[in-house]
Amino acid sequence: MSEELSGGERSVHDLVGVGFGPSNLALAIAVAEHNADLQGRPGGRAVTATFVERQPQFGWHRGMLLTDATMQVSFLKDLVTLRNPRSDFSFLSYLQSRDRLIDFINHKNFFPSRVEFHDYLQWAADRVDGNVAYGHEVVAVHPVTHAGEVTSFDVVARDVAGASEPLIHRTRNLVLGTGLVPRLPDGVTADARIWHTRDLLPNAERLKGMSPSPSRIIVVGAGQSAAEAVDYLHREFPAAEVCAVITRYGYSPADDSAFANRVFDPAAVDDYYMASPQVKQMILDYHGNTNYSVVDHDLIEDLYRRVYQEKVRGEERLRLLNVSRVVQAVRSGDRVQTVVESMITGSRTALDADAVVFATGYRTPDPAWLLGDFAEEFQRDDAGQVRVSRDYRIETTPRVRAGIYLQGGTEHTHGISSSLLSNTSIRSAEILDSIVEYSEFADPLAFDSPPAASYAG
Ligand code: FDA
Repeated sequence: MSEELSGGERSVHDLVGVGFGPSNLALAIAVAEHNADLQGRPGGRAVTATFVERQPQFGWHRGMLLTDATMQVSFLKDLVTLRNPRSDFSFLSYLQSRDRLIDFINHKNFFPSRVEFHDYLQWAADRVDGNVAYGHEVVAVHPVTHAGEVTSFDVVARDVAGASEPLIHRTRNLVLGTGLVPRLPDGVTADARIWHTRDLLPNAERLKGMSPSPSRIIVVGAGQSAAEAVDYLHREFPAAEVCAVITRYGYSPADDSAFANRVFDPAAVDDYYMASPQVKQMILDYHGNTNYSVVDHDLIEDLYRRVYQEKVRGEERLRLLNVSRVVQAVRSGDRVQTVVESMITGSRTALDADAVVFATGYRTPDPAWLLGDFAEEFQRDDAGQVRVSRDYRIETTPRVRAGIYLQGGTEHTHGISSSLLSNTSIRSAEILDSIVEYSEFADPLAFDSPPAASYAG
């Protein structure tokens, strides 16, 4: 699984970031600002970083960029402000560059639309995109050994369009910022009529052009994405019945109150990290309703108002099937034969639909998925989850001197903000500080070897 390489020209990065969503974008900015700060200072060494992103261009959950959807986090928790309020990569700098600063202030709003925040992220990404290989998917990571120790990794990325040879980057540190993976119920496979909300917009656009126009769409789930999908489909398909299937009695509001919001503070990461497993679980149980299976209060009100008005008019098009679950969703030609089961009575109702949308959330992939056999060097806890240091570095066997850092996927160690935007700026700075600190103790000669010309498979 590893190989000895002889010395050669220096071509080893300090870090390679896998994925270029908001997390690694924040890291790229932190690196750029770190390097800019070093200029003119004696002794400092610039950090070399490069990023690999499989999408052809920057994109943040494009399939859910619904016109009316708003951010669930204050604009002040942007890519930089908590780390460096003077940064010119802030949301306020973006507004100024778009000539909208005064308009935004007059709006008196902390929660911009997702479309606007996407534009902000795109604007920031464009300013650092010299370091990003878009359209490349990392498919393997190979450890490189030197004198029996793993001192770096070769990161192999294939050109998604298949137009060029794979890229191979050698790096002392890997930062995995690959995000979460859409979750579908067991036995369900996504296709042109069975969707995960991740792909809502392109699929819905396709459905709009079809004849006859859709008569029924089913949405499964009770969280924010589910409610947004119901709202959107109900508006965009005026001839269709929209059935929301939820296991709850009704949509529950997100707790965005001030004290509860502290669970996303940078200091809460320290608290969570130190807490016992029992207290960690307690915190997640108490405050899961800040993020999981909950919906913005205004959206709940709006959906309820629509249900009620339709009842008044006697044309019920938005139907809430509560305490119920979908037990079958099977394609039959252009239809999806769906069976909904009441969890109270056990009775089953067949619903023939044009499309079924699963708003069933996302799962965290185990970081082992990219590293093959090398993942056996990871330390794991009793539950089999990777041990992660406070600096987001995976704990490994002592012979591994190269670093693997996690941006996301650390809810079991660092708490509920792990996969969210709240701490992105601070987390990126902590990872960068750790990389710089380790590099001060590293033997530079040990790392000066070129990557292999190619890796089979
Ligand atoms: P993210 O998933 O954004 O990015 C990962 C990137 O890695 C992707 O671009 C992907 O293409 C790439 N990638 C994956 N595997 C790869 C590989 N092998 N090679 C190369 N590239 C690879 N949170 C919040 O705090 N406030 C909010 O308002 C919202 N709103 C929101 C709306 C919706 C619709 C969703 C689905 C989620 C949110 N979130 C959120 C949570 C969300 O996880 C968070 O906003 C960020 O997307 C996390 O950023 P990351 O960069 O960690 O992952």
